[in-house]
Amino acid sequence: MAHIEEIANHEGRSVTLRGWLHKRRSSGKIHFLTVRDGTGFIQAVMSKAAVGEELFLQAGHLGQETAIVVQGKVRADARAPGGYELDVSEMSVAGETRDYPITPKEHGVDFLLDRRHLWIRSERQHAILRIRHTVIHAVRDFLNNQGFTLADTPIFTPAACEGTTTLFQVPYFDHATAFLTQSGQLYNEANAMALGRVYSFGPTFRAERSKTRRHLTEFWMVEPEMAYATLDDAIDLAESLITAVVARALETRGRELETLERERGSLEAIRAPFPRITYDEAVRMLQDHGRPIEYGDDFGGPDETFLAEQFDRPVAVHHYPSATKAFYMKPDPERPELSLSVDILAPEGYGEIVGGGQRLDDLDLLLRRITEHGLPQEAFEWYLDLRRYGNVPHSGFGMGIERLVAWICGLEHVRETIPYPRMLYRLTP
Ligand code: 4AD
Ligand code: MG
Repeated sequence: MAHIEEIANHEGRSVTLRGWLHKRRSSGKIHFLTVRDGTGFIQAVMSKAAVGEELFLQAGHLGQETAIVVQGKVRADARAPGGYELDVSEMSVAGETRDYPITPKEHGVDFLLDRRHLWIRSERQHAILRIRHTVIHAVRDFLNNQGFTLADTPIFTPAACEGTTTLFQVPYFDHATAFLTQSGQLYNEANAMALGRVYSFGPTFRAERSKTRRHLTEFWMVEPEMAYATLDDAIDLAESLITAVVARALETRGRELETLERERGSLEAIRAPFPRITYDEAVRMLQDHGRPIEYGDDFGGPDETFLAEQFDRPVAVHHYPSATKAFYMKPDPERPELSLSVDILAPEGYGEIVGGGQRLDDLDLLLRRITEHGLPQEAFEWYLDLRRYGNVPHSGFGMGIERLVAWICGLEHVRETIPYPRMLYRLTP
């Protein structure tokens, strides 16, 4: 048994591939069968002379996506997309297909999303999902190698983290209402006081009615949190994490990036240090270019795109006004109206990929903020304990996997970066 991604190891030998017929082209006495096995795509060349009349005839009638097992000899061919082809000696059908609904012709995106369970077999979607896998793997490797401990945070939670208006509610038996988590952060803070440097990595949920190319209602977020750490420490960590992930994608997913026709140069430019600008500087840049923004406003998507376009690598915008941010942001001691917060904006219009900062560690102020934000204090008692017992400065951030993958892959929309996207008007399949 061989896999297409490691076919080079079998050059000159006969192998068996178990997969599916991606497409077929025939010319007289030869069939060119593109076979996929989940690890890649390869052209299998079947000649009538090699397999005999009967099998040749059968192969000529195979429908797209028929499950087939092919045997053949691996031959290097510089012109082949993966550098190798298979000269078929045997083939059998493992599972028939007739009238596969997704044909090589153009389909509308709704048609494809309705058939997402099949669409993921296509070459582009395969490439994206493999890059997503590599991105997640690289994130975990990076944090594990830096001495972070993975500590999972709950998905059913009793209260809000990012703001009450964007929570999905779930009946919790007959005695309570649970909320699907928007962020593991508050629990990460507790975990950081127990384990020093931690991260959570899981699905998070936002009941936002946003219908943009950057928003999902269910997305995956990695959230590192560090005890004894400042805003700058968090920015440094995000910078080296992003740099490592992009480098890994370039190094190990060249084939997939090529399939996506992703321009590599702009990814190769992703090196530390990233530019770092304050919110004040960002507002000035926007105003100088005639954008209608008032000091104190939060940035809209087009503002973020404009800011990011000024740089060739991600830009860290820090010190946002406290009023634009969540209750847990620590104010800058020098300018208390500003928060020790940071957003990292990806180049090429992919928007905010990281949000985080230094956490508010003053118990009295934290109590005030919870009240000001209309949050129920009882639900936060456990969180307030962190400020009562062994309180230290701490910082962290959240990085959305889908936006990161969309940027690395160069995609129009985040909906293609996750196997089954959940959006305002899409809950199926
Ligand atoms: O900026 P956000 O809301 O930050 C937090 O949740 C913090 N509590 C994280 C922390 O400090 N531990 O979200 C963080 C990131 C964003 O930068 C973005 O990449 C992604 O999560 N994100 C989304 N991705 C897809 N769809 C959405 N609706 C997203 N909302 C946020
Ligand atoms: Mg944010």
